[in-house]
Amino acid sequence: MKDAAPQTIYLRDYTPFGFVVEEVHLTFRLAPTSTRVLSRIKFAPNPEATDKTFFLHGEDLILKSSKIDGKKVTPTVTPEGLTCAVPDKPFVWESEVEISPQTNTALEGLYMSNGMYCTQCEAEGFRKITYYPDRPDVMSVFTVRVEGPHPVLLSNGNPKDSGDGWAEWRDPWPKPSYLFALVAGDLVNFPGEFTTCSGKDVELNIWARPGDEGKCAFGMEALKKSMKWDEEVYGREYDLDIFNIVAVDDFNMGAMENKGLNVFNSSAVLASPETSTDMNFERIEAIIAHEYFHNWTGNRITCRDWFQLCLKEGLTVFRDSQFTSDMRSAPVKRISDVIDLRGRQFPEDQGPLSHPVRPESFQEINNFYTATVYEKGAEVIGMLKRLVGDEDYAEALELYFARHDGQACTIEDWLKVFEDVTGRDLTQFKRWYSQSGTPRLSVSEAYADGTYTLTFKQHTPPSPDQAEKLPQVLPIAVGLLNPNGDEVVKTTLLEMTEAEQSFEFRDLASKPVPSLLRGFSAPVVLERAASRDEQVFLLAHDTDAFNRWEAGRNLARASLIAMVRDGAAPDQAYLDGLAALLRDDDLDPAFRALMLSLPSQSELAQALYEVGVTPDPDQIWQAKETMADTMARTFRDLLPKLAFEGKVTEPYEPSAEQSGKRSLGAAALALQTRLDGGEAAQKQFDKADNMTLQLSALSQLIQAGKDAKAVQSFHDQWKDDRLVMDKWFGLQVGAAHPAQAVDRAKALTEHPAFDMKNPNRFRAVFGALAMNHAGFHRKDGAGYDLLADWLIKLDAKNPQTTARMCSAFQTWRRYDADRQSLMKAALERIAAQPSLSRDTTEMVSRILG
Ligand code: ARG
Ligand code: ZN
Repeated sequence: MKDAAPQTIYLRDYTPFGFVVEEVHLTFRLAPTSTRVLSRIKFAPNPEATDKTFFLHGEDLILKSSKIDGKKVTPTVTPEGLTCAVPDKPFVWESEVEISPQTNTALEGLYMSNGMYCTQCEAEGFRKITYYPDRPDVMSVFTVRVEGPHPVLLSNGNPKDSGDGWAEWRDPWPKPSYLFALVAGDLVNFPGEFTTCSGKDVELNIWARPGDEGKCAFGMEALKKSMKWDEEVYGREYDLDIFNIVAVDDFNMGAMENKGLNVFNSSAVLASPETSTDMNFERIEAIIAHEYFHNWTGNRITCRDWFQLCLKEGLTVFRDSQFTSDMRSAPVKRISDVIDLRGRQFPEDQGPLSHPVRPESFQEINNFYTATVYEKGAEVIGMLKRLVGDEDYAEALELYFARHDGQACTIEDWLKVFEDVTGRDLTQFKRWYSQSGTPRLSVSEAYADGTYTLTFKQHTPPSPDQAEKLPQVLPIAVGLLNPNGDEVVKTTLLEMTEAEQSFEFRDLASKPVPSLLRGFSAPVVLERAASRDEQVFLLAHDTDAFNRWEAGRNLARASLIAMVRDGAAPDQAYLDGLAALLRDDDLDPAFRALMLSLPSQSELAQALYEVGVTPDPDQIWQAKETMADTMARTFRDLLPKLAFEGKVTEPYEPSAEQSGKRSLGAAALALQTRLDGGEAAQKQFDKADNMTLQLSALSQLIQAGKDAKAVQSFHDQWKDDRLVMDKWFGLQVGAAHPAQAVDRAKALTEHPAFDMKNPNRFRAVFGALAMNHAGFHRKDGAGYDLLADWLIKLDAKNPQTTARMCSAFQTWRRYDADRQSLMKAALERIAAQPSLSRDTTEMVSRILG
């Protein structure tokens, strides 16, 4: 329900809670529409707090009874919680509430998914389970009793005792309520075991619905690898006797790190070669690692308040990306991360939703689980590590764990360990946490008497939330190549702190070619009027894999912009340079596949907007089509070779090596389809014995408009597999011709298997629509209207997912006047809904500005 006046919460208003919680006992009597939750909580006055108001959060709860020290009390209850007079000494609070998991479609708190009970408490879901100080700085040990007629009854910590229809769990580690979890149902487990570095045996389980047990093996291996890696690289050992993961079909996000009982969106854990793509496997491995790593960065050390979310998320994303780099290919991971950053975080940071990595205010915290907090938050840690070096980074982390174990911390605590270890003053670096927007970095060069000078200027445009920006600390990794391609200066880290700053390199025999911002050493937009020849040179010679890819990307982007703006032809020098790389079979196939990918339509729209051209989505789409057609013709003779190198003859494995080959094969197939109209794709589709090959073929057939048969047979083959059907729904919209995307999305919402209450299914259709750039931005506004219609419908059931998906409209101001007014009208229509959720209200009003 819409609050009378949405409240804004400010970081600067933080005060500690008036009480500490010494112990929590919970009993759950499960029933679909009338679950009883009994709590017994030991409170004591908090000597560190001045405000002694006894306020417990509570939403959508029916209070049946409450007692203090065994005596009935009558608290004052509001829609947000309750207050009560309490003694000025330790006391025991007891309450009994009733809740209805069955009708909880928001998927927050305790809810049901396919007959299974499960919870999602981060960020503020625990208050929908019982009355409690639902804030991360209140930590306590929990004992939980679950009663219900279900074979499996799980909660956090270690199993304590159990009997027929009940089980008790005790979590010895103090935790905030957002890490609470409970799962009950008819589940099967895929077991495993891990012996920690100090010799403790840990029981591992992945729990799934009967029928899904065959999809757990990969996740289990990923979990063991994560546990081992965290011991070896960060010295972190697991701290309970058991670690459970549960796969849940209805889940708003990817997964959740509840202590000892991680709950996963089934799409983020279940996998098999027949039903999952290489990309799915890689994502699952990363998410399992991510949630596991939270055990230390998030759970043992948690956040003081939700403004500090990046303290656990930025760090844990950084850790999971290190893990993936170690398990797979570091350059490929870096390139993929940067593609993702530019695709999701840059538009956010350069539009109306721009906010600092550590926001200073919010209305609904769920709206701040963003690419900025997560991915830019991870970039900030990457920069810190570059600046202080690997050894000091390791030492600072040791100190962080030693000093703050068991605490709820802030970014100040985090930076202080780095200051203490390195003696650096990180005051300016801290701007990365407080200043929003993407810095723009320009560079000029000079060469005289053997001295080469690079002069950088940084500038961050004002954002809606902050008018003035100050210079930031930019670690700029630079290498210099001489004209024959030899590296004359190896990667060197320049530390830029001023608005304008020069760096000199002496004793050079000739004017070098600079390779700037190697490895994407800072999340900035590098504005460089580098000549085309220089980019072609770097594409051929750069020794930094990331920058070699980047040179190709720059050439592709420049060429596509010229095609749209000036009606130019595709850049022949780019195509020639690319052909040379494609011929080089010493290069990792995965890397060559990435070289073949073009910037997204949305990235091009932003790039055009920045050079003062109003982006026309149809023209952008057309330019990419022309470019791809030209690539197909130019590389015609190379395609058989690429297809051959992309072939895997060994039995399917989701390894980096095999999946790299398959991605090169898929890139080759995409070009081949432009020449043969889908013949090769149809063959691949008919023969495919794994989902990676089947889906890449289907995608090509859809793009070629030759999909009628394949779409039907895919459906018939997979209609009983929800996760595969999500792909079926998504691909038909995502790969559709722009003129058809909206109609296909609309038709799919009428399919009997479309279920708006399932976030995966809703996102399959509408996430794909939003990603089909020219399709979504159809001139007549049909894409905007369709999405708005469905967001309005979904908001009444699931505010969180609705609000997230509003970001499809965040770039509305970049387009032409007609599209702008159509998008604005769609947004205003959403905003005008009576009883719009707080989540969606906040998002829409920020986007409208
Ligand atoms: N902490 C989880 C993760 O990143 C995300 C959970 C967010 N959930 C939410 N409803 N905001 O691993
Ligand atoms: Zn996380």
